[in-house]
Amino acid sequence: MRIAAISGRTADGRPFQIRSLRASEAGLLLDQLWELQVSDPAFHVTEPDEFNWTADRLRGRIEALNRAPNGLYIAVFADEGIVGSLSLAGGQHKKTAHAAVLGMGVRRGWRRQGLGRRLVEVACDAARTADPQHIAVLTLTVFSTNEPAQRLYASLGFAEEGRGGGTIRIDGRDQDVILMAKRLS
Ligand SMILES: CC(C)(COP(=O)(O)OP(=O)(O)OC[C@H]1O[C@@H](n2cnc3c(N)ncnc32)[C@H](O)[C@@H]1OP(=O)(O)O)[C@@H](O)C(=O)NCCC(=O)NCCS
Repeated sequence: MRIAAISGRTADGRPFQIRSLRASEAGLLLDQLWELQVSDPAFHVTEPDEFNWTADRLRGRIEALNRAPNGLYIAVFADEGIVGSLSLAGGQHKKTAHAAVLGMGVRRGWRRQGLGRRLVEVACDAARTADPQHIAVLTLTVFSTNEPAQRLYASLGFAEEGRGGGTIRIDGRDQDVILMAKRLS
């Protein structure tokens, strides 16, 4: 799926646009994902030395998600480049195609400005207005230590559906991975 540009302003007045990524913007996206990885290593499953995205791999992912009826890759564009992004990746099989996994992040310095909320709202609207057979449920996993993300998702109607007890080790301590989901109908 692709969406057209939506303009807005952050809570403190900075202009931005949210729209689907183009394959030619893979390098900009790589910068944003790397910034997220190093600024919040505790909220990612990978450590910085395991980060293995490249512009080429991201180009392929943007193209695949834009093309898929149950996929979406959107970003927040501002003067300084991409300051936030969100992907929805639908299941690859007939039995899983109606469920899409959500991943997202907002650049430090742009947080608590309403961008995370706007990204999820735009993604839900896109998924809802697509053929309803394509995406019926959004799922995600979040670490039990990631309170900002849990609050964001809960405030937008995601509910906790299960926990992987102790399945993530952060700074030597075993923490839970929480599965959350939102039905769109
Ligand atoms: C989680 C994240 C995407 C939120 O983005 P954001 O742009 O700051 O979110 P918003 O400004 O839209 O905030 C929406 C709501 O989220 C919650 N929230 C966001 N940051 C919070 C914080 N630091 N502490 C508590 N609640 C927080 C609040 O409920 C907030 O609503 P409010 O401002 O009305 O109180 C951002 O913190 C981030 O990128 N974190 C690092 C990457 C990450 O954790 N990704 C998700 C992995 S599952």
